[in-house]
Amino acid sequence: MILVTGGAGYIGSHTIKALLARGYRVVALDNLSTGRREFVLCEDFVEADLLDRHALEKVFRDYPIRSVIHFAAKTAVGESVENPEIYYYNNVVGTLNLLSAMRTHGVKEIVFSSSAAVYGDPESLPIPEDHPKRPKSPYGRTKLMMEEILADYARAYGMGYVALRYFNAAGSDPEGVIGEWHDPETHLIPIVLEAALGLRDHVEIFGTDYNTPDGTCIRDFIHVVDLAEAHVLALERLREGAASPAYNLGTGVGHSVREVIETCERVTGREIPVVEGPRRPGDPPALVADPTRARRELGWEPCFASLEEIVATAWRWMLRRHGRG
Ligand code: UFG
Repeated sequence: MILVTGGAGYIGSHTIKALLARGYRVVALDNLSTGRREFVLCEDFVEADLLDRHALEKVFRDYPIRSVIHFAAKTAVGESVENPEIYYYNNVVGTLNLLSAMRTHGVKEIVFSSSAAVYGDPESLPIPEDHPKRPKSPYGRTKLMMEEILADYARAYGMGYVALRYFNAAGSDPEGVIGEWHDPETHLIPIVLEAALGLRDHVEIFGTDYNTPDGTCIRDFIHVVDLAEAHVLALERLREGAASPAYNLGTGVGHSVREVIETCERVTGREIPVVEGPRRPGDPPALVADPTRARRELGWEPCFASLEEIVATAWRWMLRRHGRG
């Protein structure tokens, strides 16, 4: 059985759907601080916090867990700057509790949800896994610390692990069962689509004076279903004993904030009002993955290759969520 922490969250819930489709048995754990219970598609669900060691201990006693996929974490970059303490507790202490319970129960396989935020401002593009790691926020630092903790546990205790460094997760389940739902929403694509739907007056572009072709930031958007698939492949590779410590998950193609807005206008057929604003502190000008290692070693190939396709699934979900689909 696979324990998925953060199984009610955006990427966790899509990964559970992918695992179930492959016939895996899954138990989800989530404290429902940001996750949504109705997104958990497996039968077994435990509402618990990783900071609650007794609850965690009980999960490992109650279920025959062989592997863990660990998503549960605080994920808002800006909030982590304002309140680092909750990030270090939730993310780092929570992970230590999880690893400790795994050790007690002899569980030795973990796929870890990491982030491109571990790299900081890139020295060159695209970014390979061995690029220097200088995270710019407490959030990014917690992700890097957790990777380092995993490496130490691997050396000392024979823990098998893989860290998957996501670039910009986007899109929603094409069947429309689950989707992206953050409250408050901070991510570009859902914000732009909310503006298309008339739920916001406009989209503010955070910075138009970057050293990029159109002056706005560039990001590598990767569909959440492709991310979910990569977790299944990474787990299988880990079980074969052949996984690398980390894989970048992105398409290798960057799109600017203006391109995203134009794509959303094309997909929705609506004009989206834009306001040009100042830079958002902490944003790297451009983040684009070099996903060669994941392609070569995991045989991973994103199915949603174009931004249009990614936005189309996000739009269908947005319409459905707001009762317009
Ligand atoms: N942006 C706007 N207006 C908005 C929202 C976003 O212009 O209203 C811009 C941002 O400035 C940025 C780009 O759109 O340039 C993408 O922003 P998101 O907030 O959607 O995503 P980020 O790139 O900031 O963050 C993502 C993940 C983080 C992860 C990070 C890695 O959400 O968890 O990538 O750097 F840490």
